[in-house]
Amino acid sequence: MNNKVAIAADHGGYILKAAIIEKFQDQYDFIDLGTNDADSVDYPDFAEKLASALKAGDAPRGILVCGTGIGISIAANRHGDIRAANCTDTTMARLTRQHNDANVLALGERTVGSALAFDIVETFLTTEFEGGRHQRRIDKMS
Ligand code: RB5
Repeated sequence: MNNKVAIAADHGGYILKAAIIEKFQDQYDFIDLGTNDADSVDYPDFAEKLASALKAGDAPRGILVCGTGIGISIAANRHGDIRAANCTDTTMARLTRQHNDANVLALGERTVGSALAFDIVETFLTTEFEGGRHQRRIDKMS
């Protein structure tokens, strides 16, 4: 697994996206797919950009941020091979890696503070998939 991480947000999440990049820039090579200001945009467009980047092999994992993490995770999960998990604590982040092999973390800038978001990101990016019975379940969704 390389250290590239694709990251995208809508106008409800671009501030947290920037904070995540700044916090983890020495550990991960971020591919920033926007948006980068408060101008209103549509979260499905940014979920699609990130899904395309992962499908193209630009990065193995991604992070999406919107106001709640809900809309952008729903949009991302409409793309094949994306397993996006909207996490609001580190237990969810750990378990979605161990059990769901989630390849995209969704966060809500308006629902999760930045310190907690950083812990969630670190947990998500450092926890391995357990495989075994969990792989069988994932196979049933493809
Ligand atoms: C944008 O205002 C907001 O609806 C979006 O960021 C997200 O929270 C949707 O789920």
